[in-house]
Amino acid sequence: MTEFSRRLVRRCWLSAVQNPLQVISFPALQLHVSGTAMRASQEDFENAMNQVKLLKKDPGNEVKLKLYALYKQATEGPCSIPKPGVFDLTNKAKWDAWNVLGNLPKETARQNYVDLVSSLTSSSKSSSQAKPGADRERQGYENLVVTSEDGITKIMLNRPIKKNAISTQMYHEIMLALKTASKDDSTITVLTGNGDYYCSGNDLTNFTDIPAGGVEEKAKNSALMLRDFVGCFIDFPKPLIAVVNGPAVGIGVTTLGLFDVVYASDKATFHTPFGHLGLSPEGCSSYTFPKIMGPAKAAEMLIFGKKLTAREACAQGLVTEVFPDSIFQKEVWTRLKAYSKLPPNAMRVSKQVIRNTEKEKLHAVNAEECRVLRERWMSDECINAAMNFLSRRAKL
Ligand code: COA
Repeated sequence: MTEFSRRLVRRCWLSAVQNPLQVISFPALQLHVSGTAMRASQEDFENAMNQVKLLKKDPGNEVKLKLYALYKQATEGPCSIPKPGVFDLTNKAKWDAWNVLGNLPKETARQNYVDLVSSLTSSSKSSSQAKPGADRERQGYENLVVTSEDGITKIMLNRPIKKNAISTQMYHEIMLALKTASKDDSTITVLTGNGDYYCSGNDLTNFTDIPAGGVEEKAKNSALMLRDFVGCFIDFPKPLIAVVNGPAVGIGVTTLGLFDVVYASDKATFHTPFGHLGLSPEGCSSYTFPKIMGPAKAAEMLIFGKKLTAREACAQGLVTEVFPDSIFQKEVWTRLKAYSKLPPNAMRVSKQVIRNTEKEKLHAVNAEECRVLRERWMSDECINAAMNFLSRRAKL
């Protein structure tokens, strides 16, 4: 956690602590903030503001903070408002980003804002011309690749650069993909990951995006979203298979108890570090894990965060079968293609017979886990975890 936390804090909260008179780097662009020969007019500035509203792709928090800071500097001059408290994370990040611009002249800020927007619009045009991106965009998914072939709908988490951490947007995309797959004409549905990870769990930066209503509103909204998300797995009507191509963390692990079959590469590991984060189990794992592996083994994972290898997870019943990584994809997809040719209605009915007696219980467990988590997110232990982030930041 240490190195990860350091980088996370650095990225979220120190992104703006660079000298504005030097070159600031963004993904896919470099913005020269020092004096530029050109001066953007008020009209250029207003056009740029309108273009921002039309961006098809979310430019990400770092760029949004830069845009915010440059806008404020261009319209109001240097930051002179009081510094928000340490737990008002969103407003503090905004304040930091603006404050770091120091005495940058309004005209330069305006020019830099226009340059930044222009870079974003040109990079979004070129990415939407690329075929794979355009395909995803047509389907409406930014961080998933969803394909249907040979009777199999494959939902692939596609954020390999972040180890397939699930952002808020991805939660919604996965729910949509599951709901769509539940009604399409495929016989089985598969969830897998692109890259070396299956899923690194909840995107921890989700916690830093605090709405105007504060931490309580964030906790309430997150609990509602999580309940709906897990509910989609509980209610999924067809055979649901996890193809665990690499390590799985947090909710990437806990939801596995709701799959019908779990195939894993021998490179996969299974880790639920809730204790370290001041959190508690989700994904119905408080019920499914003790049932699958017995209460003692489940407690070691869910309370103490013991990481299992693929073979250990298989021995404990969480994983159906483990394959050597070198033949994993070939073996698994050959098998799944054969399964997908079985009579679809028989498979659906069999799944219902196996799962339906548990559904009510699972929804109740899900609701209770989300209720507890909502409190956890506002607890001293979670707040202390945030304090740890901030105190490490101070030492960087
Ligand atoms: N949330 C947000 N970002 C995550 C993430 C997560 N859960 N998991 C990985 N990332 C990001 C990292 O911040 C890093 O981004 P950066 O390149 O912009 O710094 C990138 O993904 C690659 O991760 P990195 O830590 O460099 O890879 P690694 O192989 O050294 O470690 C993990 C991978 C998954 C072990 C490590 O990133 C980690 O511990 N993540 C947190 C997992 C977690 O606690 N999930 C929640 C459980 S409830």
